[in-house]
Amino acid sequence: MPCLPWYGQIDGILQANLDIMRAFFLYCLFLCPLGLFCQVDFNKGWKMKPGDDPVYAKAACIDQDWAAVSPLQNWEMQGLPQYDGYVWYRLHFYLPRNLLSSSYLKDSVRFLLGPIDDVDACYLNGVKIGQNGHFPDEGKDAYRTAWDVPRRYVLPVNHLALHWDAENVLALRVYDGGGPGGMFDNVERSAGAVDVLDFVKMTVQHRALQKTEKNGFNYATQFENQYQKPIAGSLTVQVFAFKGQKKPLKTLQFPVNIPAKGKQEILAHLESVGRNWVYFEFKEQLSGKTTHQWQETPYVLTPKAGDRPEIHNPAVYGARPGVPFLYKIAASGKAPVSYASKGFPPGVKINAATGVISGTLQQRGMFNITLFATNSAGSDSKTILLVVGDNICLTPPMGWNSWNCWGLQVSDEKVRAAADALLSSGLADYGWNYINIDDGWEAPGRNAQTGAIETNEKFPNMPALSDYLHKKGFKMGIYSSPGPKTCGNFLGSYQHEAQDAQTWADWGVDYLKYDWCSYSGIAPEKPDLEAYKHPYAVMRAALNATNRDIVYSMCQYGMGDVWHWGEEVGGNLWRTTGDITDTWESMSGIGFSQDSLHSFARPGHWNDPDMLVVGHLGWSEQLHPSRLTPSEQYTHISLWAMLSAPLLIGCDLTKIDDFTFNLLANDEVLAIDQDHDGRQAEKKQQGPDYEIWVKALSDGSQAIAIFNRSEQDRDITTDWAALGLANYKTVRDVWQQKDIGKFGKTWHGAVYGHGVRLLRVY
Ligand code: GAL
Repeated sequence: MPCLPWYGQIDGILQANLDIMRAFFLYCLFLCPLGLFCQVDFNKGWKMKPGDDPVYAKAACIDQDWAAVSPLQNWEMQGLPQYDGYVWYRLHFYLPRNLLSSSYLKDSVRFLLGPIDDVDACYLNGVKIGQNGHFPDEGKDAYRTAWDVPRRYVLPVNHLALHWDAENVLALRVYDGGGPGGMFDNVERSAGAVDVLDFVKMTVQHRALQKTEKNGFNYATQFENQYQKPIAGSLTVQVFAFKGQKKPLKTLQFPVNIPAKGKQEILAHLESVGRNWVYFEFKEQLSGKTTHQWQETPYVLTPKAGDRPEIHNPAVYGARPGVPFLYKIAASGKAPVSYASKGFPPGVKINAATGVISGTLQQRGMFNITLFATNSAGSDSKTILLVVGDNICLTPPMGWNSWNCWGLQVSDEKVRAAADALLSSGLADYGWNYINIDDGWEAPGRNAQTGAIETNEKFPNMPALSDYLHKKGFKMGIYSSPGPKTCGNFLGSYQHEAQDAQTWADWGVDYLKYDWCSYSGIAPEKPDLEAYKHPYAVMRAALNATNRDIVYSMCQYGMGDVWHWGEEVGGNLWRTTGDITDTWESMSGIGFSQDSLHSFARPGHWNDPDMLVVGHLGWSEQLHPSRLTPSEQYTHISLWAMLSAPLLIGCDLTKIDDFTFNLLANDEVLAIDQDHDGRQAEKKQQGPDYEIWVKALSDGSQAIAIFNRSEQDRDITTDWAALGLANYKTVRDVWQQKDIGKFGKTWHGAVYGHGVRLLRVY
């Protein structure tokens, strides 16, 4: 419906204006003169309307009947389920001139809006003041997402669009190309005066020290000055046992002098003292303003692996007869390790130096296979069940995928580097073995003669790449869409399904992620179940017609409740939600919402809550350490293991640090994910800010995850009987890999804010 003129709903407007003025009055009276909160909060008061009409940009547009929307949650969760396309957001706010009083510079105003998924144009009182990304209607192939760019629009104080001491209207034209839409990160959104501090970017990173140096780690605080003059001030670093503790355990102070348009790095050394919180505050000299950050120290719980070999392959493995077989014995221990096996039916041979077993099995059946690993410190053996039949992927796939680190900038070189790093870091010894290329490998057009899909210049030779990976025991994954275009606007498989499946098989592909994306333009506007199933069934049939075992990963964000029929169309895993990102809201929102799906996970068929967001991520060449705190990262890995989720590392493995390694190389945690029976955990108890999930394991023991969803550390008591665990007594702390005692009736312990205790009871 087009907007009505102003006089349409005058009462509502008057009321809204009174509210705005009341808030403004309070603000002028108390807060701003004190130098506090001299900005306008943009985290509430928004309205939205799906569709697209230029009149929505105008200040005079009546939006009284628009739906209220929170910028802290995507629009799918607020009345627009599975909606991709255009939505307008509008916000009325008062802009007090004394906003400028607290600024040393007093020359411009900035609007902070956080990331917007995917594209936005920003209008102030009808005047366009900026845009991020490109809308599809800007021309052929114009669409470009800018979903992870924090929006910051700046205007000089005398800009005509600014209505000082009056009401203003901010209107956002937003387009979402797929997955969650709109604003949803829990970040600052505000209007405020630009000040010297706005030109300073402060980032804090922990850096593990080399083993030869002192214990502990350095925190590197990096300052970047975008101003044309030097910026000075001081940095205070304080260590606390917990957030909210009054007296710091330690305080360090550093002078800061950042050259004009330059950088400065300050290293603060901290001894390794387990888990603490570190507070970093920069005080800028001219304005006296401060900015601060908290960092939880990256506490390592996983004990270091010993020199003796330990085999970590899951207890069961499925393969089909008559197709190429590839399997690697995954064993930690001091190099060199030599490998052997016993019990394989004819058709395969082992490379004793790499542990790679390859060939072709002809005989169907169940075989008890014994794997051996030996080195100078000893040997280990493990018997697993090999099932040669129709089913593969009997435990959730584990490996690496390029998307969460490189986004569309993935290349052959980066894929090889990831595989090399999996090996050299030792992670491959724990069973991480898929190397999956996500979107961005495809050439713009098909081969003119044959119609075959081809690679772009970043992937000069796919068969050579798969050969490189297979020789090291890795499997190779690829990505496409049933639509004409992928989500990244690369070429999809529409109308070339059988041909593409054969091309990939010829290249040596072992895994396909098949992403709905532009298929929404092919499917009916409101697809019924058959329409949802159709493209996935077509590709599964095409994959089956090749001579390879290809794991089939369905990516369509849970549409049509895919968990009910994903198995029927041959999916080995299916995404249950939109894309994950490295924030607590995103990760915990996805992870904790999986409870109702537990009955759909089983060997060969898994719910997929999306890839891991630990380590260095970026969805581009600009990588950053995961924004999850260390405790949140323990929650992430524990929850995914409890969910029997596919585990696909999404980080740059060449930058792996001790903390991230500790998260990904805990064999007892991984064993929960890879359990033979493949059950998904169930939520058994829930309090206002905690959840207890339980997963039955194949040896009769139970894994219990006690999650603290609040920010504060807290003690949690569990009642074994209430959890249905009255017969269990011995409790093991899984992250620390040690028994912590016998608990007959209850267990009581501390759980860090946003953290977890992962237990196994016998
Ligand atoms: C999204 C998908 C992501 C990634 C991306 C590639 O739809 O959910 O995981 O594959 O497309 O363009």
